[in-house]
Amino acid sequence: METLVMDNIQLGPNYFCLRLLCPEIAPAYQPGQFVMLRAWAGYDPLLPRPFAIHQTWQRQDQEQQGIDILYQVVGRGTRLMAGLKPGDQIYLVGPLGKGFIIPEGLQSAFLVGGGMGIAPLLALAHKIIRDSRPSPKLSLLLGGKGKEDLLRVKEFIELKVSVHLATEDGSVGHKGLVTEMLPTIIPRQRPQVIYASGPEAMLKKIAHEASYYEIPCQVSLERLMACGIGACLSCVTKTRLAQPPEGLSPDGVSPTPFQYQRVCLDGPVFEAQEVIWNNGAE
Ligand SMILES: Cc1cc2nc3c(=O)[nH]c(=O)nc-3n(C[C@H](O)[C@H](O)[C@H](O)COP(=O)(O)OP(=O)(O)OC[C@H]3O[C@@H](n4cnc5c(N)ncnc54)[C@H](O)[C@@H]3O)c2cc1C
Ligand code: FES
Repeated sequence: METLVMDNIQLGPNYFCLRLLCPEIAPAYQPGQFVMLRAWAGYDPLLPRPFAIHQTWQRQDQEQQGIDILYQVVGRGTRLMAGLKPGDQIYLVGPLGKGFIIPEGLQSAFLVGGGMGIAPLLALAHKIIRDSRPSPKLSLLLGGKGKEDLLRVKEFIELKVSVHLATEDGSVGHKGLVTEMLPTIIPRQRPQVIYASGPEAMLKKIAHEASYYEIPCQVSLERLMACGIGACLSCVTKTRLAQPPEGLSPDGVSPTPFQYQRVCLDGPVFEAQEVIWNNGAE
């Protein structure tokens, strides 16, 4: 559908927040779901691009009016997006895929983000806080190359989320990777669930730590996507079969029984223990 650009604010050298008017999508979505977006006229680039829904926005009457997309300029499509102005029309499909699941009575959770992986986590924090009673204890662990890559920190602090930062250049917080903080923070706080979004290597490490401490973990995967609706199979990923077919057992000798799932339709959020990382290639 065609939607109207309300704003396109630059947040940093390569970071923008695009505000779209789409009252049909805003109330219907779950944090972790995404949209396919073509922000340019014609078919060059040919394919729309996938973006997590960052948050919804509303007018004073409290009716949800639309969504924000938090994005980083990395190539031709996002460069064209950066040139959008209020009043421009763009093409959008969504909300798509399956979002994060919030268990009944959730009392504590870690939200772990790497770089642009922060995009779906703010709305998730809002939803957990809105839906859970008594108020759950939330911690954000956020990593990036430098402090200018850590977006939306102030908003999490305003939500009273406890924030732990890591930067590779040491400009703020722990010097190193966000995953290096997990072995000390997890045993201290023992969250009920870990939600993670970011680069695959980070997700794999988080999944490993979560499994070690036997904490349920949901990860939001990224794949190159052509259609976003389950038709083209460009986004498939290997996942473990919950019920191995007759005669096949995960005995440590035979390969893990697996299936292919479409990240756009069956995900992008998966239970971490389901995912076969790097499609099984070490
Ligand atoms: C479900 C989902 C949600 C996403 N949410 C966000 C978001 O909220 N904010 C955001 O900035 N980006 C997000 N992305 C990534 C975003 O789709 C890509 O950055 C975008 O498609 C790049 O388009 P481009 O034309 O600018 O770059 P291209 O010219 O297509 O590519 C430039 C570079 O980016 C790499 N790239 C392209 N797409 C992806 C991808 N899906 N994953 C990893 N690397 C990629 C390419 O390999 C290439 O190196 C998401 C991706 C998925 C699958
Ligand atoms: S992007 Fe086409 S099936 Fe997932």
